[in-house]
Amino acid sequence: MFNTTTWNRIRYGLYAPIYDLVADRVFRGARRVALGQVAWQPGMRVLLVGAGTGLDLPWLPRDIELHASDLSPAMVRRLEQRAESLGRDVQAEVMDAERLAYPDDHFDVVVMHLILAVMPDPEKGLNEARRVLKPDGQLCVMDKFQADDHPAGLARRSLNALTSAIATDITRQARPLLEAAGFVIEQDTPVMMGSLVRALLATQRVDSPPTRAAPHEA
Ligand SMILES: C[S@@+](CC[C@H](N)C(=O)[O-])C[C@H]1O[C@@H](n2cnc3c(N)ncnc32)[C@H](O)[C@@H]1O
Repeated sequence: MFNTTTWNRIRYGLYAPIYDLVADRVFRGARRVALGQVAWQPGMRVLLVGAGTGLDLPWLPRDIELHASDLSPAMVRRLEQRAESLGRDVQAEVMDAERLAYPDDHFDVVVMHLILAVMPDPEKGLNEARRVLKPDGQLCVMDKFQADDHPAGLARRSLNALTSAIATDITRQARPLLEAAGFVIEQDTPVMMGSLVRALLATQRVDSPPTRAAPHEA
């Protein structure tokens, strides 16, 4: 449909000035639950993918090495401003989640908040997350998902034609997506609107190696 990476770059560039008004308070509790499920250790190398304006920053431990990437330069600029105002050191870069310019086995934690339901090809995003995660790394996801046990019905699919163009897909299923990418779901907590928004923590399945590819240029 009308959900492409080019369109996402354009629309999130337009949304950037008002993004916090829409997404800060609403998702604050959900972020805290999702990040609270991670087994944090001092010194961990952490990547926020599709990091937006950096609304996760206040809820992350300080004793970590923090990296952030986003498709939209306007979002990255705002994240850098937030990091500065919070006195946090963050390596922030403009980058497509489908083509992460990081080496294999590089991060202890990858955070994907509100991006799997936004990007046109979440499978590619998850494959990249898995590639850059260390074998014992943790994937932290918070997003809107359709129930795992049945696909979206006609009404939801019809509504999705609109929501996916201006905001978010509401028909994606977390478990099939994560499992197909080689993740094992360790925690799955409904956090908002019944179980529409869920906080998931996943690790890598040991019997299936991630797809290896040379890191891409940003
Ligand atoms: C709904 S916002 C979520 C932002 C942030 N993670 C949060 O929790 O507030 C979606 C973000 O994903 C970014 N995005 C969309 N497609 C992307 C892609 N292919 N690669 C990287 N970032 C992407 C957008 O620019 C936007 O900042």
